[in-house]
Amino acid sequence: MDVLRQKNQSRRSSSGPRLVTSTNAVDRVGDDDQDAGMNDHDPVLLHYSEANEKERLTSRAVGVLERLRTWDIFERFLPPSGVVYDIGGGAGVHAVWLAGHGFEVQLFEPVSLHIDQATAAAEQLDAGQRFSIELADARSIPREDLSADVVLLLGPLYHLLDRPEREECLEEAHRLLKPGGLLVAAGISRFSWLMDAYRQSMAQVGEVQTSISFSVETGRSTKDPEPTSFQAYLHRPEELEAEIVDAGFVGSRMVGVEGFAWMLNDLDRILGSTSESEALLNQLRSVESEPSMLGASSHYLTLASKPT
Ligand SMILES: C[S@@+](CC[C@H](N)C(=O)[O-])C[C@H]1O[C@@H](n2cnc3c(N)ncnc32)[C@H](O)[C@@H]1O
Repeated sequence: MDVLRQKNQSRRSSSGPRLVTSTNAVDRVGDDDQDAGMNDHDPVLLHYSEANEKERLTSRAVGVLERLRTWDIFERFLPPSGVVYDIGGGAGVHAVWLAGHGFEVQLFEPVSLHIDQATAAAEQLDAGQRFSIELADARSIPREDLSADVVLLLGPLYHLLDRPEREECLEEAHRLLKPGGLLVAAGISRFSWLMDAYRQSMAQVGEVQTSISFSVETGRSTKDPEPTSFQAYLHRPEELEAEIVDAGFVGSRMVGVEGFAWMLNDLDRILGSTSESEALLNQLRSVESEPSMLGASSHYLTLASKPT
């Protein structure tokens, strides 16, 4: 861990802001030998080198719902333009959409496969749309203080299993944001494995019962993880919001992403019908910040501002 910090700190001090107005739309910063400072055995690197993150938001109904709801939330809560740091931006699905909607987007990712996928996804952008991609860890982003209008943390916070690591990540987001800038941070529901195990009819096995109870009690997603397991800290909604307020952000608002709808058996069919999917999205919007509904959503977002 000390090595990781030193590596990233020296990179940060040697690199000024690299804002990009690219004629080829995408600028990939750094060479292929660069790393984000994560240990090769880090579960994030091991998991995502095997997981199909590129297809997650497009191939299955729950992913499509997450994507549509996230974009709906962006449309209503993000400023009309500005610099967005998409930290933990994965394969670039949201980043490319944001760049296509007029934002200058800088994506940071520790997984080189995701960097390759985001680079390929960005080919659909027009020349002149501003987009860059860089290998980095959320706790040490090589950009200057007060340089972003929006920071997205849609992944890093729940993959940092211990509170001090999440505090470090939030401190970094706070450093990067301009006064009044917006943080959008995702959490996974404390009850997601409980709900998902029943949704997928997996809960009848004794071992699954044990792992469900473990996740609800401890917040750890996986009881006995394999090196490539998905490992996350599962927040209660009020816990995620409190971490963000404690990090110095103000005006926080909790928003459920999928709401209850990710558990529907006929979600595929509903999303296949324009009128039914519009009606569902309207209903989800109307209850998205209802405190009594939040824990049923697979993901939630905390939106909060850096004080002016
Ligand atoms: C489930 S994916 C989400 C990707 C994308 N943000 C989205 O919302 O679809 C989680 C992402 O968080 C990234 N991540 C995990 N830990 C991170 C860290 N410490 N720093 C930066 N990114 C991290 C992973 O590499 C992965 O791309």
